[in-house]
Amino acid sequence: MNNELKVPNHIAIILDGNGRWAKKRNMPRGYGHIVGCDNLEKMCDVIKDMGVKYLTVYAFSTENWKRSRAEVEGLLKLFRQYLKRCIKKAHKNQMRVKIIGDPSAFPQDIQDSIHELEECSKDYDHMYFQIAMNYGSRDEILRGMTRMIEDVKNGTLAENAFDENGKLTEQCFESYLDTAGIPDPDLLIRTSGEQRLSNYLMWQLAYTEFYFTEVPWPDFHEEELRKAIEQYNLSLIHI
Ligand code: IPE
Ligand code: IPE
Ligand code: MG
Repeated sequence: MNNELKVPNHIAIILDGNGRWAKKRNMPRGYGHIVGCDNLEKMCDVIKDMGVKYLTVYAFSTENWKRSRAEVEGLLKLFRQYLKRCIKKAHKNQMRVKIIGDPSAFPQDIQDSIHELEECSKDYDHMYFQIAMNYGSRDEILRGMTRMIEDVKNGTLAENAFDENGKLTEQCFESYLDTAGIPDPDLLIRTSGEQRLSNYLMWQLAYTEFYFTEVPWPDFHEEELRKAIEQYNLSLIHI
């Protein structure tokens, strides 16, 4: 990495375009997911080596259950394999891995792997890797607010939840999100041409720089990341 470039503290990525990438090669969409998953493993190392502290990737949205049964089944199979490999990677990279989203919708064995991965990596601090699985911002906010209402009912809401005008503080609200304790992303990358958030980190991205590229996720390698970070640096000049 060019020494003059400032590396973002937190990069969020919407890993998009696996299906189209595969279709272009006359392959089934599932093949795109397999290659996309391999690329995520490689890019996780690249991003760590660049000195990025936080990486948050969108792997499966609350809306993705609406895809064909075959595609969803294929993705679940891939998650099974990936989560196991990720345990090894967490130890190797000394990174803490956290799943954001609602894991309760996944089959029990996947929930067990998630638990194992989070538990075995919880004391690492070389990098913080968040994987959004069955994640949607609206769902995250509704789940968080449901917990907050429970705390109000039980009388366990933090004493400083409200400011001097009686308004709920941002700090209190954020503490109920899946990303509690994680700084907001500095740079959001969405691959494969779409320019929308698709229900990703809507609260957390309030001040984030956005980088959209036509390059589909399976082709998004170190060189493409460098371009994104270069554009991020240009945006810093205008602040
Ligand atoms: C992103 O690739 C991966 C997941 C949503 C799981 P897509 O599957 O959305 O690929 P395209 O956008 O259809 O090409
Ligand atoms: C967003 O991509 C979700 C993930 C990358 C996991 P989608 O491809 O599912 O989003 P839409 O449907 O194009 O908005
Ligand atoms: Mg897509």
